[in-house]
Amino acid sequence: MKQKTLLFIVALMSLTHLTYSQAQYQRSAVLEADSLLLPQQDLQWFRDAKFGLFIHWGLYSIPGKGEWSMFYYRNDIDEYKKLANEFSAKKYDPKKWMEIAKNAGCKYVVLTTRHHDGFCLFDTKFGDYDAVNSAAKRDLIAEYVDAARSAQMKIGFYYSPPDWRYPGYFFPNMYRSSAEKMKEQTYVQVKELLTNYGEVDILWWDGGSDEWLGAGGLEYSWEKAWHKRENDTPYTGDFSWEPLKLAKMARKLQPKMLINERGGWKGDFDIHEERFLTGKMDRLWEYCDNLALNGWGWRPIDKETLLSLEEILRYLVKIVSLDGNFLLNVGPDPQGEIEPELVERLEEIGEFMSKYGESIYGTRGGIYDETWGGTTLTDDAIYVHVLDIPSDGVIKLPATGEKIKTARYMNGNEKVSFIQNTHDITLKGVANKHNDIDVIIKIQLTPR
Ligand code: GLC
Repeated sequence: MKQKTLLFIVALMSLTHLTYSQAQYQRSAVLEADSLLLPQQDLQWFRDAKFGLFIHWGLYSIPGKGEWSMFYYRNDIDEYKKLANEFSAKKYDPKKWMEIAKNAGCKYVVLTTRHHDGFCLFDTKFGDYDAVNSAAKRDLIAEYVDAARSAQMKIGFYYSPPDWRYPGYFFPNMYRSSAEKMKEQTYVQVKELLTNYGEVDILWWDGGSDEWLGAGGLEYSWEKAWHKRENDTPYTGDFSWEPLKLAKMARKLQPKMLINERGGWKGDFDIHEERFLTGKMDRLWEYCDNLALNGWGWRPIDKETLLSLEEILRYLVKIVSLDGNFLLNVGPDPQGEIEPELVERLEEIGEFMSKYGESIYGTRGGIYDETWGGTTLTDDAIYVHVLDIPSDGVIKLPATGEKIKTARYMNGNEKVSFIQNTHDITLKGVANKHNDIDVIIKIQLTPR
């Protein structure tokens, strides 16, 4: 079957529900599979890292309409592919990216090795839709990995099994052989990624769960996602990525690599995306969002939607208080450069991190209270992050078994008065003396 255009797919969309197999899949039990989960000690670096840089870069950066532009604008596949001839990566300098990430205080990076448009930044033997056969004429992932490794940055690979070039993705039952080919592609390419670049620290799946399958060619909307089916109605056809098989392969190739839950298998950690910050403490989790709010891939109007330092630090405090990680995204421009306005903001975050990093890195989440802020914990300290000073200057915290030695503002080292009893801890006279976004009080404990 010939893959032609997405328009063709849309035209056929009305037929599909008739052809869906009625076969119900008993998938859930399989997908739980705890045996593949990494042991605690291998998750520790990630728990402690707290802050990573997400990078969306690919052919979609050229039109500058976001990484979904091929889908939204129903681009003819062959036309879209021509962007590869312009993808020169002239200013691509992953060493610079790592420097930016490092200065921001990031401990890991995650780059889109391939997004839903199917174009690979790496050298793939599965076809020629890759950077080596683009104007860049080289394996951009190899350079990314080298740069990350020498900067001692942990390395993450984003990979999307969905590929919009395949009608079988939208209609797996009607175009079964196309779907199978796309599936084969995923297995081959993930194997390449996990074999050819040495140790990989994170496999960041996207779109590999059943909800995204058989979505037809309908418009995407935020509320309904892009389901042709009713919301929350699982795909019931008999095509499957076999997520557990994928996860087993990945685990075998990279025994210590963290895998997120967007590949179908439950994964080592959960993702919460864009505004939906509902972290759970019982699973390891990461929150991802954009530094400029108008999308993941580059757009020229980025700067207008750039988050302020205050907005970012408020997110950060909430996330770490709830024991999660923050993966903050930038979309480099078509040439591969991260724009100066974004770099500047990242540097500001870095200044905060280098001053107050001990209250973030390596901590565990404590409590979070919308009215004032949250706490992070270490073995011998409680860090109180006050974002909004209560009008009476009083903050009540849960009791702790250890005796408090001192309570001091991290900025200026001034003492904070407190009362400790068996029920709780009360901080008194809390004030913002230095016009800080996050007033951090370090409560030093004496371990019993
Ligand atoms: C969504 C989007 C995608 C983006 C990702 C980042 O899954 O489809 O464009 O890469 O979120 O979390």
